[in-house]
Amino acid sequence: MATHILETETMSDATNGEKHKTLLAWVEDVAQLCRPDRVYWCDGSDEEYQAMVRLMILAGTAIPLNEEKRPNSIYVRSSPADVARVEERTFICARTKEEAGPTNNWEDPAKMKALLEKLYAGSMAGRTMYVIPYSMGPIGSPIANIGVEISDSPYVVANMHIMARVGTRVLDVLGSNGEFVRGLHSLGAPLAPNEQDAAWPNNADEKYICHFPETREIWSYGSGYGGNALLGKKCHALRIASVQARDEGWLAEHMLILKLINPAGEAKYITGAFPSACGKTNLAMLIPTIPGWKVETVGDDIAWMKFGADGRLYAINPEYGFFGVAPGTSMKSNKNAMLTATKNSIFTNCAITPDRDVWWEGMTDEKPAELLDWLRRPWTPHSMHKAAHPNARFTTPARQCPVIAPEWEDPRGVPIDAILFGGRRAGVVPLVTEAFNWQHGTFLGATASSETTAAASGQVGQLRRDPMAMLPFCGYNMGDYFAHYLKIGEREGAKLPKIYYVNWFRTDDNGKFLWPGYGENSRVLKWVFERCDGTAHAIETPIGMLPQPADIDTKGLDIREEDLWTLLGIDVDGWLEEIPLIRDHFDKFGSHLPEGLSRELEELDHRLRQSITRTGKMSRFGKVSKLGQK
Ligand code: OXD
Ligand code: MN
Repeated sequence: MATHILETETMSDATNGEKHKTLLAWVEDVAQLCRPDRVYWCDGSDEEYQAMVRLMILAGTAIPLNEEKRPNSIYVRSSPADVARVEERTFICARTKEEAGPTNNWEDPAKMKALLEKLYAGSMAGRTMYVIPYSMGPIGSPIANIGVEISDSPYVVANMHIMARVGTRVLDVLGSNGEFVRGLHSLGAPLAPNEQDAAWPNNADEKYICHFPETREIWSYGSGYGGNALLGKKCHALRIASVQARDEGWLAEHMLILKLINPAGEAKYITGAFPSACGKTNLAMLIPTIPGWKVETVGDDIAWMKFGADGRLYAINPEYGFFGVAPGTSMKSNKNAMLTATKNSIFTNCAITPDRDVWWEGMTDEKPAELLDWLRRPWTPHSMHKAAHPNARFTTPARQCPVIAPEWEDPRGVPIDAILFGGRRAGVVPLVTEAFNWQHGTFLGATASSETTAAASGQVGQLRRDPMAMLPFCGYNMGDYFAHYLKIGEREGAKLPKIYYVNWFRTDDNGKFLWPGYGENSRVLKWVFERCDGTAHAIETPIGMLPQPADIDTKGLDIREEDLWTLLGIDVDGWLEEIPLIRDHFDKFGSHLPEGLSRELEELDHRLRQSITRTGKMSRFGKVSKLGQK
């Protein structure tokens, strides 16, 4: 069996220090339950990573890519039954349904554990059980947090090597009694003696991604893919961490972190919350089109923010790599991501070229003449289906990013000047809006909405409210999460970031994007930067502070004046139609909705109605108002 590449280890082999009795006892209990053939403690070494790669190649899970084109990189295809996060199989098993709230699936913790224990019993037979100690955040940072994932998947071990800091150095910090989040992951695919393994073992019938917030535990069963299986990412760094953050007075958010530098060399740090596959990675690595401006990357998906002694919020990126959506990524849309993933990377569910390189839709203008698609079928440009799965991913080390900020691993984090919320909206929502204050900014985040993407299984293109882009990731009642945001804003001596709402995805009547996006988004970031400095102009409107077309630097940009007015104007009819939708959204939270947010809604409604003059015409807010055009 391929798994014999690794010798069984014990914790004492893996650490020099004293044993962590609770950790040892838990690993022992899990081994008794799951009955793996062997237990292996991950040390985080390169040899270990290479051993995982060899195991995957021998098992038919991975193909090594062309060493000259993509050194030390592999290509993996999952099973079609396991291609994305499974939100409908994701549970927050808080003590009560009310604590999980109306936006999460809930099950009683004891019942769920009883059910899962039956599934886990013997589920690792024929496999190795890997114990992966990991740190979310720079090891030893006061903002970082330790977890241990137990998994029976070498693919998970290899991905965790890239996405988190793993191994013995983490155990050393954990010591003999440090606290850690416990993550148990099994593919749910035990092997009978001499049974041939599947190339992508998983459980096609049963998948459970369960969180036990009170005991800081994650139990994942049946899937080997992405956020379902790499437990440090969504499960720990967002669902469990959001509960820790609530209890301890900080924020665990689905946000990129970027550093924006102006021509004078002054920097501001901006975080941005956008739903999955809405361009966080692209924005985090953007190449500004405005001369003299620069962006550096701190993180592309998750931000943990804690107050510093000066009252500012300091953010770290708890991750160590990028797990980016491949389709649409190109030298044009995100050169820095392409350059990051040139080596030491894992590509999942892309297509493969005859000379063993990867390809996906949008990577090149010219499509390769022939490929094997993600389902191993021959593919040509005439094929009717896509070559890569829409949620195909690259896993790649953050340190390889050409624009990684030198301070990206600073254990103190970086001080945040501005927070962006946003989503994919074809209509109504302007290019950028500045919140009047923190409470209004919380309202903008809480009412964020977006058309769904392929990052989660389910229908694509449906409009859904995705508050703070945390709908699939908040580990407790979202009404209480809103209240937590407001509480952060009330903290004595807090010097809070300004809050903005952006929408790059506005289209015209023919469905064509009105704003060019990508590097041109730097024009909006520049306005944000200068608003933080108090040097940029904005007008007060019913929905927030807005730039007028002249306030955005459009030098060298080929954009029609009327499109700019549409992007920056207020569609009063559209906004009035949003009000009952927001009310329905808020009603879901019942008594958990903080009063501050219902007040914001009523005030928005009032301001919109006031903005219509007696003649039914718009007063002074942009030219887009349908009422104004009557
Ligand atoms: C991700 C996601 O993988 O949000 O980052 O789905
Ligand atoms: Mn994400």
